[in-house]
Amino acid sequence: MRQCCCSSGARARSRRSRSGAKRQSWQRPEGGVRDESWRPSRLGLTEVVDEFPAPGTNLAVRRATLANVTALSNRLTNALDIRYPIISAPMAFVGGGALAAAVSRAGGLGLIGGGYGDPEWIEEQFQAAQGERVGVGFITWSAARRPSVMDAALAHRPAAVMLSFGDPLTFAADIKAAGAILMCQCQNLGHVRAALDAEADIVVAQGSEAGGHGADRGTFTLVPEVADLLAHTSPDTMLVAAGGVADGRGLAAAVTLGADGVLVGTRLCASQESLVKPLHRQAIVESNGDATMRTHLADIVRELPWPQEFTARIQRNGFVNRWHGRESDLAQQVAIEGPRYLQAFADGDPEDTGVWFGEAAGLIDAIEPAATIVERMVTEATHLRRSSN
Ligand SMILES: Cc1cc2nc3c(=O)[nH]c(=O)nc-3n(C[C@H](O)[C@H](O)[C@H](O)COP(=O)(O)O)c2cc1C
Repeated sequence: MRQCCCSSGARARSRRSRSGAKRQSWQRPEGGVRDESWRPSRLGLTEVVDEFPAPGTNLAVRRATLANVTALSNRLTNALDIRYPIISAPMAFVGGGALAAAVSRAGGLGLIGGGYGDPEWIEEQFQAAQGERVGVGFITWSAARRPSVMDAALAHRPAAVMLSFGDPLTFAADIKAAGAILMCQCQNLGHVRAALDAEADIVVAQGSEAGGHGADRGTFTLVPEVADLLAHTSPDTMLVAAGGVADGRGLAAAVTLGADGVLVGTRLCASQESLVKPLHRQAIVESNGDATMRTHLADIVRELPWPQEFTARIQRNGFVNRWHGRESDLAQQVAIEGPRYLQAFADGDPEDTGVWFGEAAGLIDAIEPAATIVERMVTEATHLRRSSN
């Protein structure tokens, strides 16, 4: 195994310095079988379906066809050495090596969800990626309590490391010294400035639509505002949009707003390769965008010391409905409710634990392979961008 070059010295230098019933807006066909006929007409994308390689087409042919219809190469795809400006979110407990590898094989960049820094789990997930070129992401404040986890991840030579929710300076120098692209997920302009201080290569502007942890700003205003800030202060820093991107419309919109690419979470939760339990995946498919809320409940019940500025977007299910507005009661009963929550999560129970996804659930109607999700997103976005030129 490669010796990590960046443990204490570089780190010392670096320290200087976010249910309801679905389908009311439009109905998909009964029976749960995917019927592609609704989607093109809704999107005005009939030509796209003609261009999109049919399922079952030889993989090389599919990719060649997609390459011909793609006009999304840019400085982000060059810097990350990928075909499409699509990055899978490093989702704790969800984004394992198989999902990351599938996204990378499909032409994007997959990120393993380092989450709270369980070294054994991270090691297993790098093994599950089977040598595919992937990256990894960490919850910064949590990794800072166990810095060796970063060294262990960097020893796998990840293509990129994403830091979220905490001071990126803690690890920035180590990540760069290891030759990885530094990505910093930011929820407001203050976070962007901190990312620039840490010399981030990529700023991920995360809007509150996002599943999982995040903050208050909406994607639609945050992304262009960050684009302007970067244009004025750090034009070489690339921008990726996160929060609510689940199809080609989202990708095309993000690029129009000034982003170089997108980070996709919820849509890939509902993929065949995610580690999401079956009933939780099904909840995504059956939910609409009204079905979630931002809350501290999941952190209270798990006794995780998350900074107050961050909430988690999860489904409004039985657990949330029972405790919303009774946060201090939950804190008082955590000795009983904590183990109950964790057991229900491990069991894949859809009601008595946190079910993690974002507003993009309203755009998701099927569990599909990650490659299908990526390819369709690219094809739709390419068409939309062409037709707007
Ligand atoms: C199930 C789930 C788990 C997540 N876990 C993490 C995490 O561990 N670290 C992180 O930086 N972001 C995490 N996120 C947030 C993502 O990085 C990303 O910002 C978000 O998924 C993008 O919005 P979307 O869900 O609408 O695609 C998570 C998101 C989801 C849905």
